[in-house]
Amino acid sequence: MIRTVAVSPFSDQKPGTSGLRKKVSVFRQPHYAECFIQSIFDVLEGMDGQTLVVGGDGRFWNREVVQTTIRMAAANGFARVIVGRGGILSTPAASHVIRKYGAFGGIILSASHNPGGPDEDFGIKYNASNGGPAPERITDAIYARSRIIDSYRIYETGDVDIDVIGDSFVGATKVQVIDPVADYADLMEGLFDFAAIRALIAGGFRLSFDAMHAVTGPYAVEILERRLGAPAGSVVNAVPLPDFGGHHPDPNMVHAKALFDRMFAADAPDFGAASDGDGDRNIILGRGIFVTPSDSLAMLAANAHLAPGYADGLAGIARSMPTSAAADRVADALGLPHYETPTGWKFFGNLLDAGRVTICGEESAGTGSSHVREKDGLWAVLLWLNILAARRESVAAIARQHWLRFGRNYYARHDYEAIDSAAAEGLIAALREKLATLPGNRIGDLAVIAADDFAYHDPVDGSDSRHQGIRILFEGGSRIVFRLSGTGTSGATLRVYLERYEPADGRLDYETPAALAGLIAAADGIAEIRSRTGRQRPDVIT
Ligand code: G6P
Ligand code: ZN
Repeated sequence: MIRTVAVSPFSDQKPGTSGLRKKVSVFRQPHYAECFIQSIFDVLEGMDGQTLVVGGDGRFWNREVVQTTIRMAAANGFARVIVGRGGILSTPAASHVIRKYGAFGGIILSASHNPGGPDEDFGIKYNASNGGPAPERITDAIYARSRIIDSYRIYETGDVDIDVIGDSFVGATKVQVIDPVADYADLMEGLFDFAAIRALIAGGFRLSFDAMHAVTGPYAVEILERRLGAPAGSVVNAVPLPDFGGHHPDPNMVHAKALFDRMFAADAPDFGAASDGDGDRNIILGRGIFVTPSDSLAMLAANAHLAPGYADGLAGIARSMPTSAAADRVADALGLPHYETPTGWKFFGNLLDAGRVTICGEESAGTGSSHVREKDGLWAVLLWLNILAARRESVAAIARQHWLRFGRNYYARHDYEAIDSAAAEGLIAALREKLATLPGNRIGDLAVIAADDFAYHDPVDGSDSRHQGIRILFEGGSRIVFRLSGTGTSGATLRVYLERYEPADGRLDYETPAALAGLIAAADGIAEIRSRTGRQRPDVIT
C-alpha cells in the first residue's frame, strides 16, 4: 500500500520569509508538492508514532495538497494526522492546535496575503512542535534536501473525507478531522474579558471586521458575532472562497479600500479591522483613523495589562527591524527589555520560547504574543476590543494620548512591486557600497548618524543572520530602511520604510505624507530608486 516514487529533484524549492511560495501552476507539476513535503519529512527526526497537524487557508489547491500530505504522513510513520474540517486552519489556529495536542509539527498550506486561484499563488510551510515556523537552520536543510531528493513515500489510497468531523484511518495512521474554530475560540476566551467586550457591544459600540473572503470568516463570525454578540453582518466577506473573490486578501489601504472608506465615512462604526488570507495579519482602524501596525504594537503593549491574559504585565517586547521604534519607547517607559529582529515571524520564536518577550510585532500588519508562535490577526482585534471595553474611549483618543506620552513615530512603507530582479539587487548592492561614506553627511535637513546592513545575533541560540536590510539612521530618531521582500513570487519587490520621530512635545498632528516628505526625497536621492527601477512612484503605500 505504500509506494516509493522515484523522482528527479526540483532546483527551485528554497523557502522564503515564510515557507515555499509559488504559482499554483508550479505546484501543479507532477511530484512538485510531494518532493517538497518529503524533503521536510527527510530532515526531521523522530516523527515515528507522532502527530502531524495539517490545514490551510482554503485557497485553490488547498484540498488537493491536504490529501497528499495525509497520504505522505501515513507513509512516513506518523501515527496521527489532525486536519481542520474542510482542510481549513488559520495560521494562528494551526499554531495553537500543534501546541494544544502536543503535535510533532504542522504543515500549513497558504500563501498568506497573496492572491489565490488557478493562476495565482500557493504555499507550503512547516511549523515545529512549538507551533512556530521552522527556523532557518531547518528551512536551509529542507532546501538542501530538496535539491538531491530521489524519491518520496506515499500511501496508495482514496481521498479521506475531510468535511466531516471524526476519525478514520489511512493504514495504521489515524486521521482526526476537527472543528478548525473551536479550540482557537476557546483560547481567545481565556485571554480576554469577553463579558466586558460583550457589554461594550451591547451598549451600542459598532464594529466592522473584513474577512476578505479568506480564512478568518468562520473564526470571526463565531467569536465576534456568536460569542461577543456583534450584530449579524458585523463580519463582512465572511465566506472563504478559493480565489478570495478575485481580490488580494491583503489588509492594506489598497486591497481593503472598502473598509478604509467605511471607517472614514460620516456614519463610520467605532472600530474597523481586517485580516489576511491565512488570518495572521491585522489592520486596525477607528472612526476616521488608521492605526499603523507599528503604532498598534506600541499601543497594545502599553495597554495589554487591561486584558486578563496579560494582567501580570509583559516579560519584554520584540519588533522586526523595519518596524518603527514606537514599541521601544513603551518598553523603555515600562522598564522592559526590547529586541530588534530580522523580518519574519520565525525570528521571534526563540525569544518567546525562552520567555524573554510576551508581545511581538511587525510593520507588515503582524502582531501577536506568547499564546501561540505565529502572528495572530484576530488576537490583535480582540486585544484592541478588550482595551476599548476597559477604557471606554475612542481609538482616536487612545492614539492621541499615546503620542502625548511617548511621542509619535510617523511611519510609511513604500513598495515597488515586481521590478526587475537584477535592478533590485543592483540598487541594494550600490547602497551597501555607500554605507561607510554616509555617516556625517547631511541630506536636506537630515543628518546621517549611522548606516549599516542589519545583522542579527540571536541571544538564545547564538545564530547569526546577516544582510537583513539597509538602515540609514538620522539624528533625532528618524530612519530609512531598504529591503527586498522575501515573500514575492514574481520579480523583486523593493520595500522602503520611512520613519520620523516627533517627541511628545513636538508636532503630533501632521498628515503622514507631509511629515515624511523630506525622508521620501532623501530615500530616492540615496538609492536612486526612480532611475534604477524605472518607476516614478511606489505601487503600494502602507
Ligand atoms: C510574512 C511573514 C512576516 C513578514 C512578512 C513580510 O507575512 O510571516 O513575518 O514580515 O511576510 O515579508 P517580506 O519579506 O515580504 O517583507
Ligand atoms: Zn498571512
